[in-house]
Amino acid sequence: MEGDVAIVTFDVAGDVMNTWTEEAFAGFYEVLEILEKDETIKGVIFISGKPDNFFAGANLKMIEEMNEEKEIKKTLDLLHDSFRRLTRLKYPTLAAINGHCLGGGLEFALACTARIARESKTTVIGLPECNVGLFPGGGGTQRLPRLIGYPAIDLILKGRMLPAAKAYEAGIIDRLVPADGDLLEKAKSFLQEIISGKAKLKRPEHDFSQVDAAAEQARQEVLKVTKGRELPAYMLVIKSIQEGLKVPLDEALEIEKKNFVEVALSNEAKGGINTFFIKTMTDKPKSMMTKGFVPKPLKKAAVLGFGTMGRGIAIEILRNMQVPVIIKDIPEALEPGKAFLRKIFDGMAEKKRLKVPVDDLMNLITTTSEYTDEFREVDIVVEAVFENIKVKEQVYGELCEVVRDDCVISSNTSSLPITTMSRYVKNPERFGGTHFFSPVWLMQLVEIVRGEKTSQDTIDNLLNFAALIRKRPLVCRDNPGFVVNALLFPYFLNSIKYIEEGNAIEKVDKAMTRFGMPVGPVRLTDEVGIDVLHKVFVGMGIEQMTIKSVVEAGRFGLKKSGKGFFLKDGSVDPDVIPLIAKSGPKEKTEEEIQTELLTEMVKVGKDLLDRKIVDDPRMIDVGMVWGVGFPPEKGGPMKWSDLTGLSRKLFGKNFY
Ligand code: NAI
Repeated sequence: MEGDVAIVTFDVAGDVMNTWTEEAFAGFYEVLEILEKDETIKGVIFISGKPDNFFAGANLKMIEEMNEEKEIKKTLDLLHDSFRRLTRLKYPTLAAINGHCLGGGLEFALACTARIARESKTTVIGLPECNVGLFPGGGGTQRLPRLIGYPAIDLILKGRMLPAAKAYEAGIIDRLVPADGDLLEKAKSFLQEIISGKAKLKRPEHDFSQVDAAAEQARQEVLKVTKGRELPAYMLVIKSIQEGLKVPLDEALEIEKKNFVEVALSNEAKGGINTFFIKTMTDKPKSMMTKGFVPKPLKKAAVLGFGTMGRGIAIEILRNMQVPVIIKDIPEALEPGKAFLRKIFDGMAEKKRLKVPVDDLMNLITTTSEYTDEFREVDIVVEAVFENIKVKEQVYGELCEVVRDDCVISSNTSSLPITTMSRYVKNPERFGGTHFFSPVWLMQLVEIVRGEKTSQDTIDNLLNFAALIRKRPLVCRDNPGFVVNALLFPYFLNSIKYIEEGNAIEKVDKAMTRFGMPVGPVRLTDEVGIDVLHKVFVGMGIEQMTIKSVVEAGRFGLKKSGKGFFLKDGSVDPDVIPLIAKSGPKEKTEEEIQTELLTEMVKVGKDLLDRKIVDDPRMIDVGMVWGVGFPPEKGGPMKWSDLTGLSRKLFGKNFY
């Protein structure tokens, strides 16, 4: 108590962030009882005990583990009941916000009389639940629109997190405190103004008579983004808002609760939460390193090969690390390579995506066709020369003559074993794989490959490298196609088989886009390069007749050779139909195609786990979500297979 004002500090013990854990609930209940009973209190301030976090919201782990309707209902009732009691206190309540105020944290703040926030980098305010396949279930779908009107719909659907000033403009926050201001002092004086009736709080009456039209518009916009897929979180949150805004708040909250139970039980919510967890894990590759590991400083890098991949890798090193980079290729490749980098950097600068001027980045580049003495200064080399074992052998032989013994060397090979290539380097323990995806500056994923002799130090240093160039890594052992391509091979192979069995190309592709893949398998083949796939199949000893005849007809893919499976307008090229090797007709439904293709992927995933190519199903799901665009609300193929019961059906147990 300070005079007649109560100050309540949220501080969930042992955690960096405040979230609604069971202990937090219990503590809050105790406080509520005191607040209700004490007749002397004139107002209360809720503030956080954490330096840069007010309240991060619901505890996702807790929600992920809830599988019973009863259980979810009970937790929701507790939350709603406590917020209701908060709103019924006889005096004003003020949330004093510093740092994240998200989800259930903002819903708490919305149940207070008013909100004051201090500006800072970490002060972001919003209801991001839809981003993880849930929606705000602690009154947010009702209190936010009642406070700020229709703009709340967009904020909730997009899960937008606003800086304090923007939240103030939107009307969510009543007062702003500058970054160097004293939040508690300002909160105290603001509360006194509220108590005395001097504070003018903007609480406009909103007219929700057009809510049906607004909801319909929101639904159409969402369906455009999800390509027609009715994902439970979006559909049910719109429904809650639409129905809730037509009735009094208490009734509206019951509608929200009912829909929230449904969404929290959905597989899409569990999948979305898994994607959130594997994203958080790989957001900071340092957390994947051996505890206590001190990474080797990377002050200078080299890239071998200035082709498609070498260019992309150089771009990422330069723009993220801003260290000198030596790039080696044949003389004719050097100027075109540099011109390409400048073009990409110019584009990034235009979009304000570069921290330093383009010229500064270009000045960090040394191009060469020789192994000069400068290679001695290099701490890491990424090799991206032709995919030919003889070429690689020669390159490593020459390279190892000039680099220091402690230099880390990695190969971007997509199909050659790291263990085989390690024979060509002087220190096989300092050699590993870094398999990037094209275009490197757009694709987040890198597969870090451990050869038989690669040391843990090298893996840790490569994880550090991934962190420095802001890539999302998975760690695996040597394997044809590593992780992502290993799962994609049977996916492609079976898709083509369905076509040969008389299923239209459009149908096969549509089945998978409706599953949530960004493009269908046949279109993906066209984009990756049909010739690339052909080479891979041949390498695996598989004779895929359709792919063979399409490649022999000079069709390597629309982008690559001007001809592939598709025409420019997106329709299937009729000329490709006669090239399909027909086999006995076997019509499949959309669902059969989806389940069978998922099954094929998951079987490979199981094999990778059995053979210890990866140690954790999460690595496979990271690969598929960020390497291929596997639908995030499904949490990755391994998680989705657990959620849908496929894992148990196929293998008698779950992967997670
Ligand atoms: P690319 O053909 O575009 O570029 C290769 C470059 O290496 C050429 O500029 C060539 O002149 C140069 N080169 C050849 N011998 C060299 C030597 N002795 N020293 C220095 N440079 C030399 O090939 P791309 O696509 O960039 O592939 C490079 C590597 O990346 C390959 O191992 C490939 O398997 C792998 N990769 C390719 C992906 C793709 O989407 N293109 C994806 C992931 C990996």
